Amino acid sequence: MSDITSTVATSPLAQLETPLLALALGQGSTLPASLTELDRVAGGFLDRAVTSGDFKGKRDEALLLYPGGGEAQRILLVGLGKAGEVTRSSIRRAAAVAAKRARALGAKQFAFAVAAEARNGVAPKELGQVVAEGAGQGAWAFTALKATPDEPRPEVESVAIACDSREANDVTAGRRVGDAIAAGHRLARDLQMQPGNVCTPSYLADQAKQLAAAHGFTVTVLDRAAMRQEGMGALLAVAQGSAQEPRFIVLEYTAVGDAAPVGLVGKGVTFDSGGISIKPAQNMEEMKFDMSGAAAVLGAFEVLGRLKPKVNVVGLIPATENLPSGTAVKPGDVVKSHLGKTIEIINTDAEGRLILCDALSYVRRFKPAAVLDVATLTGAVVVALGHVAIGVMGNDDALIAEVREAGERAGERCWPLPLWDDYRDLLKSDIADIKNSGGRGAGAIAGGWFLREFVNGYPWVHLDIAGTAYTEGEGPSQAKGPTAAGVRLFSEFVLKRAAA
Ligand code: BES
Ligand code: MN
Ligand code: ZN
Repeated sequence: MSDITSTVATSPLAQLETPLLALALGQGSTLPASLTELDRVAGGFLDRAVTSGDFKGKRDEALLLYPGGGEAQRILLVGLGKAGEVTRSSIRRAAAVAAKRARALGAKQFAFAVAAEARNGVAPKELGQVVAEGAGQGAWAFTALKATPDEPRPEVESVAIACDSREANDVTAGRRVGDAIAAGHRLARDLQMQPGNVCTPSYLADQAKQLAAAHGFTVTVLDRAAMRQEGMGALLAVAQGSAQEPRFIVLEYTAVGDAAPVGLVGKGVTFDSGGISIKPAQNMEEMKFDMSGAAAVLGAFEVLGRLKPKVNVVGLIPATENLPSGTAVKPGDVVKSHLGKTIEIINTDAEGRLILCDALSYVRRFKPAAVLDVATLTGAVVVALGHVAIGVMGNDDALIAEVREAGERAGERCWPLPLWDDYRDLLKSDIADIKNSGGRGAGAIAGGWFLREFVNGYPWVHLDIAGTAYTEGEGPSQAKGPTAAGVRLFSEFVLKRAAA
C-alpha cells in the first residue's frame, strides 16, 4: 500500500518533466528569484499568484496552477508559513500537503522543490530526509478493506526531490533515511488502521515475526502459559476476560557486540472496551487504536532493519484485548505484578499501565541503557495537551531532554508533565502496594507515576500518545485516522545514539 519512494532531480525546474511540480514557499509578497526562470517559461502565473496576494505562503496553503508552458503539467504552490520560522518540520509538512494533493489528482509521480530563499538554513541532507518522510505521510491511504473503492486512484509511486547538482549527494543521503522512516511510518499506520477483529495480539506477534525474518532480528513470543511462568500477573489480569490469547513480543536488533541496548516498549491493547469498567458506546470504535504504541515499536524496527544503524535496540510489546466477560478482572481485585508489587485494580479501564508495568520489569534482563515507553495511556493527556503534543514524563532529566530533542527533529513535539512526589499519593491503596487509578485529577501524571513504580535500575521516559496517535478528521497534510506517532521520534532517537 502506498509504497512511495523518492529520487533526486537536478535539472533546472523549468526543464523538469512531471505531472505535478510542487514548490514550497515561505510567506512573502514577491516571488523568490530562484523561481523567475520557471515563471518566465510557465507564462508569468507564479509571479501573479504571489504579487496579487492570492497565494500568501501560509502554512498548509496550497494553490494549483496550470502553466502556459514548460515541462510541468501542473504547478502547486505550497506554503511553509513565516519565512523566519521555517524548520525541517515545516518542509516535511509541505511535502505531505503536496503528496496528498498528488494522490487526489491521480498523479503517480510528483516533483517537490523548496525555493532556496525559503529554506531558513535547513541543510540539504535534512531536506532530502524530511521531503521523503512528508511525501510518504501525505500519499498514504488505507484501501485494503474496501471491496469496492470509492474512487479508484492510482497510488503515488515516487517523489522527485528537486535540488541543485552540488547538493545532490547530501540530498540523496537524506532521502535514503527519509524513505526508511516513511516505510516504518507506513507499516505503523497500516497496523493501527486494521480493525480489532483483524489486528489481534497474535496478529501483532505474526507481524513481529515477519519483520524478524525480513531483517534478521531475534524474536521471542510468550503465550499465556509462558506469561504465567514469568509471573506477569498484571498483564494476565487484563487478558483474562478475553477469548483472544495475549502475546508478549520481544524483538532484538543487535548491531554492536555487547553494548547496552535501548529499550522501546509499546502498549499493544488491540481493543480497549474498558473491561468491566466499560466505556461509553460513543466513539468506542476508536479504541482499536489502543495498540498504537505497539505499532510505533514495530514501525521503528522496520526503520532499523532498513538502515542498520550501529546501535542495539530491544522492542517489547505486551499485547492483549481489554474486554468484559465472566472471567474478566473486576474492580477491587488485587493482582501480583512481574516485579512483585501487588496492585489493586480500581478501574479495569486503566489497563495500559497494567500491561506496561510487567514489560518495564521484564526489560531489566537486557540491562538497558535507556527505556522509552509509548502508549495511548490516558484521556487526561488529551485534556492537557490536545492533539498537538505528546505528554512526556520520566525519571531522568537528561533522557527527557534527549527525547524531546528527537521529537523536535521528528516533528513529534513532547511536552513535560511533572512526576513530583506529591502526585504519588494519588495511587495509595488500602489493601495493596499501589492502586491502578488515582481518580479525576492529574490523570496523565498518575499514569506516569504508576509506571515509574515499576522502573528499576535504568533511565526511563514515558510518552503518552493518546492525543497524537490518531486524528478524528481529515487534515491538510494527513488523512483521517492513524498518525504513526512515535515512529519518527524513535527513529531520530536511535539514529542519534548510533551516530554518537
Ligand atoms: N486507552 C485509554 C486511553 C485513551 C483515551 C486513548 C482516549 C485514546 C483516547 C486508556 O486505557 C484508558 O482508558 N485510560 C483511562 C484511565 C483512567 C480509568 C484512570 C482514562 O484515560 O480515562
Ligand atoms: Mn482503558
Ligand atoms: Zn487503553
